[in-house]
Amino acid sequence: MDRSLLHRLTDRERVTFADRHPRSAAAYRKAGHLFGRVPMTWMNKTAAGFPIHLATARGNRITDVDGNTFVDFCLGDTAAMAGHSPAPVVAAVTRRLGVLGGASTMLPTEDAAAAGAELARRFGLPYWSFALTATDANRWAIRLLRAVTGRPKILVNSWCYHGSVDESLIVSGPDGGGRSRDGNVGAPVDVTVTSRVAEFNDLAGLERELAHGDVAAVLMEPALTNIGIVLPEDGYLAGVRDLTRRHGTYLINDETHTFSAGPGGATGFWHLDPDVVTIGKAIGGGIPVGAYGLSAKLADALGGRADLDLIDMGGVGGTLAGNPVSMAATRATLEEVLTDDAFAAMTARASTFAAGLSTIIAGYALPWSVSRLGARVEYRFADPAPRDGAQAARSADAELEDFLHLYLANRGVLLTPFHNMVLMCPETSERDVDRHHEVFHAALGELAG
Ligand SMILES: Cc1ncc(COP(=O)(O)O)c(C=O)c1O
Repeated sequence: MDRSLLHRLTDRERVTFADRHPRSAAAYRKAGHLFGRVPMTWMNKTAAGFPIHLATARGNRITDVDGNTFVDFCLGDTAAMAGHSPAPVVAAVTRRLGVLGGASTMLPTEDAAAAGAELARRFGLPYWSFALTATDANRWAIRLLRAVTGRPKILVNSWCYHGSVDESLIVSGPDGGGRSRDGNVGAPVDVTVTSRVAEFNDLAGLERELAHGDVAAVLMEPALTNIGIVLPEDGYLAGVRDLTRRHGTYLINDETHTFSAGPGGATGFWHLDPDVVTIGKAIGGGIPVGAYGLSAKLADALGGRADLDLIDMGGVGGTLAGNPVSMAATRATLEEVLTDDAFAAMTARASTFAAGLSTIIAGYALPWSVSRLGARVEYRFADPAPRDGAQAARSADAELEDFLHLYLANRGVLLTPFHNMVLMCPETSERDVDRHHEVFHAALGELAG
């Protein structure tokens, strides 16, 4: 890759972006009382120097305050996999909030039971609790499993992401042991005190770590998604289940992103048998919610522990968890939007997307790979596709990503800002896929000189 050409093109795209977004730039300048000028600091993750400011969003279209419209393949990094403001969710939330009332009552609703039953049908775990984010679902699942096993540690895969869960901010070091993720903010203790780590697709490494006998739970995605998609090799997930059982360690499948695999996420798609499933984002149709499902055996074990305070101050809870608005939105999303039929259509669209992307990449003879997990597609700058987190991390190229993301944004196509992920929602059309591919083709053409 000619880096000086890449830099020149990126500079040109930054100027175009600034020209197309004067109101976003002004709004950013005016937001002086926001820390980092954004409501949450990660919104500064943009190649452009300032973020696009949202005006409206519907289905898979976003319009910014400057009047530019985008085909949205980011979809809120999966939180909007149901599309933006799907009509059944708008109706359910409007009814709850505006007609029936009661956004925060500390009382259960019938919607919650229906949502729990639907999650049980999809993921095969009978008992569910709700949180407001997937991060919290993971935190609380971890606490429950430490309590029930009496073991202190959690094991995660290197380069995983499970939200800002302290125990998960560990990567494999050069000696195979764990070390803190670079840039980790305010760790309460050295992460190796609370955690162990193994590479994805490495059963020998997992067995070595579990053999210490101090791991309460393995917290994992059935396919890595946050360092690009890394798919499980044949036998890996069955091997994880077997090893965790043999070592008395519980298994948590975090389905927050792998939900893209199908109506029951990767757990349903690959017929997996975890003890706990955690999830968040898309199940609320855009409204904040998280959830964790427990096996009957685990629920029994927890229920029989009189020493655990699961009602008041025991460390699992949240005043707004399970609130009526989140529950109405979750029920509507599961029952009416992200249905079995919707997943079939989204998956077919993603297959078309992946095939077209592979053809374009092959046309430029680039050593890149395309991976797909149901409705989710990603390309990495490595071929063959990375088989673990370390390989995936090494294949990142921030400069190249910046250029591609900017080039696409300037021509009305949005990707997730963190890597090269595209996601289909029920409204994503073939025309939208074609539009992405036209622009992507042109971007590679410019890079080829
Ligand atoms: C696999 C996984 N788990 C958990 C989370 C945390 O979700 P949230 O930020 O909504 O708490 C994320 C966020 O990207 C995720 O990718």
